[in-house]
Amino acid sequence: MGNLPKHITIIMDGNGRWAKQRGKERIYGHFEGAESVRACCELAVEMGIEYLSLYAFSTENWNRPKEEVAGLMKLMAKSILEERPTFEKNNIRFMVLGDRSMLSDDLIADIDNAMEETSGNTGLTLIVFLSYSGKWDLEQAASRYALDFKDGKTDIKLEDYLCTAGIPDPDLLIRTSGEQRISNYMLWQCAYTEFYFTETLWPDFRKPELRLAIETYSSRERRFGKTGEQIK
Ligand code: IPE
Ligand code: IPE
Ligand code: MG
Repeated sequence: MGNLPKHITIIMDGNGRWAKQRGKERIYGHFEGAESVRACCELAVEMGIEYLSLYAFSTENWNRPKEEVAGLMKLMAKSILEERPTFEKNNIRFMVLGDRSMLSDDLIADIDNAMEETSGNTGLTLIVFLSYSGKWDLEQAASRYALDFKDGKTDIKLEDYLCTAGIPDPDLLIRTSGEQRISNYMLWQCAYTEFYFTETLWPDFRKPELRLAIETYSSRERRFGKTGEQIK
C-alpha cells in the first residue's frame, strides 16, 4: 500500500439499525459495535497507524431516550475496564476527549485512570470522542483564547485551544451506515480530511472493511489547494 493515513477517524454509525434488523433492542447493536472497535484497533496496531479516533457519543446524543444514554455510558465504562490489559499489551495510548461537565464522576475517574496509566505508551494513540461536538470544541476554544488574548497574549493560535491540540488533523474520515454527513464532528480539524462513506453498518465494519477504506485512501491524490502538477 502507498501512503498510509497518519490519523484515521471514524463516525461509528448504524448500531441501532443493525439491532433492529435482528429484532433486538438498540443497545444490542452498541455492544456488537464494541467488537468492531476492538477489531479496528487491532488492525490499526498491525498496520502501524499512529492515531485512530472514534466518534462514540455526540453532544446531540444526550437527547436520546434515557435508557439508551445510560446503556451507552455503562458500555463505555465496561469497555475501558476490560480493554486496559490490551492497551498495555499493544502499547496503546488511550485518550477520551469531549465535554466532561456532562459525565458522571465515576466515569471521569475511570477515564482518567486509563489515560494516566497509558500516557507513556508510544504505539497507537486511540482517541474516543465522548460528549463531543465540533461546535462545542470551537466555543470552548474561543472562550479560552479570548481570555488569554485579553491578558495580552497575542501570539496565539485558535487550534492550540481546541481539545485536539497536539493531535494531527485526521487524514481519513470514515462514516458507516450510508449517512453522508458530518453530524457536528471535528468541524475545524476536517478542513482537508479525505471522506470515505460506506453502507456497511458499524457492527459489521471489521478488519477487511477498514483495510479497504485505507486502500481507497492510499489511491487518492491530496492537493491542499495546489495543482496536480505542483504536488507531483
Ligand atoms: C451509532 O449508532 C452509535 C451512536 C451514535 C451512539 P446509532 O445508535 O446512531 O445507530 P442508528 O443510526 O440509529 O442505526
Ligand atoms: C453521529 O451519529 C454521532 C456518533 C456516531 C457518535 P448519529 O446517529 O447521532 O448522527 P445523526 O443524528 O444521524 O446525524
Ligand atoms: Mg445513527
